Amino acid sequence: MTDEIQRPYGVDSDFDTEDSNRSSNPVFADILAKALSRRAVLGAGVGAAVTATLAGSVVEAAINPALESDFEKGLAAKRIPFPLPARPGFTAVPVGRADAVVVPAGYNVQVIHRWGDPITGSYPAYRDGGLNTAEEQAQQVGQNTDGMHWFPIYEQDPNQRGLLVVNHEYIDQPKLHPNGATTVNGSRPAEEVRKEINAHGVSIAEYARGADGQWALVRGPLNRRITGATPMEITGPVRGHPKVVTKYSPSGTMTRGTLNNCAHGYTPWGTYLTCEENWAGYFVNRDPAASRPREHTRYGVPSSASRYGWDTAGASPADEFVRFNCSATGASAAADYRNEVNGQGWVVEIDPYNPNSVPKKRTAMGRFAHEGAFFAPPRVGEPLAYYMGDDSQNEYVYKFVTAGIYNPFSPDRDMLERGTLYVAIFNPDGSGRWAALDINDEAFRDAARRANVTFTDQGDVLLNTRLAADVVGATRMDRPEWGWANPRNGVAYMTMTNNSARTAAQVNPANPRGPNPFGHIIRWREDGDRPGATTFRWDIFCLSGTEADSAIITANGTRSLTAENIHASPDGLWFDDAGGLWIQTDMSGSQLASGPFGHNAMLLADPVTGNMKRFLVGPVGQEVTGVVTTPNLRTMFVGIQHPGETGTSRWPDGGSTRARSAICVVTKADGGVIGT
Ligand code: FEO
Ligand code: CA
Ligand code: CA
Ligand code: CA
Repeated sequence: MTDEIQRPYGVDSDFDTEDSNRSSNPVFADILAKALSRRAVLGAGVGAAVTATLAGSVVEAAINPALESDFEKGLAAKRIPFPLPARPGFTAVPVGRADAVVVPAGYNVQVIHRWGDPITGSYPAYRDGGLNTAEEQAQQVGQNTDGMHWFPIYEQDPNQRGLLVVNHEYIDQPKLHPNGATTVNGSRPAEEVRKEINAHGVSIAEYARGADGQWALVRGPLNRRITGATPMEITGPVRGHPKVVTKYSPSGTMTRGTLNNCAHGYTPWGTYLTCEENWAGYFVNRDPAASRPREHTRYGVPSSASRYGWDTAGASPADEFVRFNCSATGASAAADYRNEVNGQGWVVEIDPYNPNSVPKKRTAMGRFAHEGAFFAPPRVGEPLAYYMGDDSQNEYVYKFVTAGIYNPFSPDRDMLERGTLYVAIFNPDGSGRWAALDINDEAFRDAARRANVTFTDQGDVLLNTRLAADVVGATRMDRPEWGWANPRNGVAYMTMTNNSARTAAQVNPANPRGPNPFGHIIRWREDGDRPGATTFRWDIFCLSGTEADSAIITANGTRSLTAENIHASPDGLWFDDAGGLWIQTDMSGSQLASGPFGHNAMLLADPVTGNMKRFLVGPVGQEVTGVVTTPNLRTMFVGIQHPGETGTSRWPDGGSTRARSAICVVTKADGGVIGT
């Protein structure tokens, strides 16, 4: 977006910076007092004092023996040596501003899965200049790659061949159309809007490694595009709820499309989870303020114009475009689309192995600006637990615990339909609590009563997840982005990307900077290492920032970031199977354009030693987001989103071509494990 340069330090371009938390929660007096004393310490320069106040690695100290044996067996099965040579073992890539993907000496990069590359149907070729049609876009890779996962294809070597499943978060209209977005007499042209909808969603594509070591698309039967228009099933407590009844689905069991798919997750039974983040702005509700419902207003559904004007594209069969108008225009919910937006904001489960499967919205996991959904390492005979962040200023961290017990030999494939949603309360003393958002929970009902908030049923609680979390006094966070659990001990790490809205008076120990332009990484460990625990311990792993204002905190002490690892606005975060912690940045505005950090980058950290090095620096105007490896850790897929969103980029095709989001295949020239 061209206005990005003018935006203040640390403000993101992905529409998620609005402070939509209207609750008056945890600025409790006791948190405040402690936070202020800590702020004084931090304000004096982070350093040795942080060790004392942040306690230093209470959660990462020990491995979990129950997981460690699985961990080692897993590495052996994947032919990954254990112990590995120390990582990060490469020479750090310096801060940089080249219009290129830069990796350490000894590593190679190949670009695949560019926006517009054909992956299915009649495989229509990409045409530079925004020339592809809407129908062609539906057969090509969507725009702006984000979260992704690698699924083996059974009976094939998963290190040589598999399914890459990739989110497409949002669109860059100036690149999508020949002359950018147009409007004619107040209406968006239907063909343009259809192309924009088709550039969203998820792509599923088979890739294989050739004898020359290069990766290429396979025109396989599982290749598929899921878009902002694909029919999807509503499952769980909200299925059939009056608030999801539409003209399209009078029974409230179906909806169309998945939008603004940011990070992701997967299940032990081989399905993909895609997470709907900044969906509210795609819709509009022009009803008078008094009649706009809370499940619209608390999430910021606009009241005058939708982000891209899709609702203005006019009448068409099946109300393809008018469905984005969520005003009450008909006699009842079954006669209009007042509830269409309630079909968004969920985690969606997709079976990549069945190209005819209908994606399922898993409403039990809550409705908010979902970043991702990652599990605590599954343990046989226990429930599965998924952690999730709500990426908006001052929103919350959640955990979903399944009602069913995990059985790897006969998994219940609809396990995500039933369970309990919790929200995190980070106490100032390093303890924490998961508060249930469950209408059958006495404490939740009491809290709602005290707050004078009424929920009619659990579907109503889930449709209004943010409000339910307000009611129990959840801790307001600095924009929770990606998280992942350390495979060795189950400790969950999550990035808090930044928060320009937090004031000095609103800091708390879990969010110790106000404002927080650089972001930080928090982590927690469940009490007893049980996925279903309702209490935990937490601490901070890293305060991102400059050499003068940053800290890495380990059991062995605290140190500042250095030239080889300074970074800001951590967003992507992922553990590889050998316990390496990968961190990706999403700076924008002046932080990206002229800050000391160069372009957005990816770093590798050892969570125990705190050693951290910059591994990859991306081209102009992009963010690095999405990473996964083949099981043997020798091929890494890394996403480059929105190159040229600010400034001019010609990446990856060069010449005078338009920049395209794409995935980089990174390998080590000597065939070794990535990061060594
Ligand atoms: Fe889509 Fe929160 O980044
Ligand atoms: Ca971004
Ligand atoms: Ca993100
Ligand atoms: Ca971000």
